Amino acid sequence: MRSIIVGNWKMNPTQKEVRPLAEGVAKGLSDQATFHDVVICPPFVFLSAVGEVCHGGTLQLGAQNVCSEPNGAYTGEISTEMLVDAGCEYVIIGHSERRQLMGESNSDVNLKMAACFKYGLCPIVCVGETLSERQDKKTLNVIRKQLQSLSGLKECSSNCIVAYEPIWAIGTGTVATPDQAQEVHHFIRSEWGSITGSHAVKEMRIIYGGSVKPGNIDEIMEMRDIDGVLVGGASLDVSDFLRIIHYKEKVNG
Ligand code: PGA
Repeated sequence: MRSIIVGNWKMNPTQKEVRPLAEGVAKGLSDQATFHDVVICPPFVFLSAVGEVCHGGTLQLGAQNVCSEPNGAYTGEISTEMLVDAGCEYVIIGHSERRQLMGESNSDVNLKMAACFKYGLCPIVCVGETLSERQDKKTLNVIRKQLQSLSGLKECSSNCIVAYEPIWAIGTGTVATPDQAQEVHHFIRSEWGSITGSHAVKEMRIIYGGSVKPGNIDEIMEMRDIDGVLVGGASLDVSDFLRIIHYKEKVNG
C-alpha cells in the first residue's frame, strides 16, 4: 500500500515563512524520489500560496478543517467545494484540538465526512485516547466507541484515512512506542473492517500522529499496520520534515 506523510501546520507559520517552507519541501521531494504521498495542510489563508508551489509536482494540498454545509450564511466557514477549487485533495477532520478546544462532536465529524465524500475530498479522520484513558487501560474501548460513532465510515470507500493520534502524544514530545501504536492500528483495521463489512479495509490507510520526529520516524514506519504519519511541529522545519518524508523504507515493503 502507498504510504502517506501529512504535515499539519496548525495555526503556523507567518506569511513570509510560507513560501520558503513549502518550496524547501517541494525541492527536497524533487531531489530524491519518494514512493509515497506527501501532503501539506496549511491554514486556509495560505492554501493558494502553497497550492502554487504544489502545482504539477509531487506535493499535495490538504486543509485542516471544513464546514459540512455546502454554501450560504455561515460566517467564517469554508466549504468542501471551496477547498476542491483551491486544489485540496485531503482535509483533516475531528482533530483532537478541534474536538477539545472548539467543541467539535462526532455528529459534526460525520456530517463533514459526508460532505467530503460528495465532493471527492479524502477525509483524514482523527481518533485517539487521553492519558487517563490509557492509564486506566481503556484505550481500545475508547477507540472502538469513537469508530462506531462515526457512521460516515460505513459509507466510505478507500478514499478515507483514519489517523490514530493519542492525545497525550500530541505536541508533548512523548511519542507512543511503535508497539503501542501498532496495537491500536491493528485494532482500528479490524474494527473498521467489521464496521464497513468490507475486505477493502486492507487497502485503507491508517496513519499515526503525535510527536513524530526525524529520530523516531524509522521505527514507527517499520510497523506493519502503520501506513503513514500526521506530523505537526516537525513539519514546520524543512530539514526535519524532509528527513521524515525520506524515512527508511520497510525491509519487506
Ligand atoms: P505533533 O502534532 O507532531 O506536534 O505532536 C501532531 C498533530 O497534532 O497532528
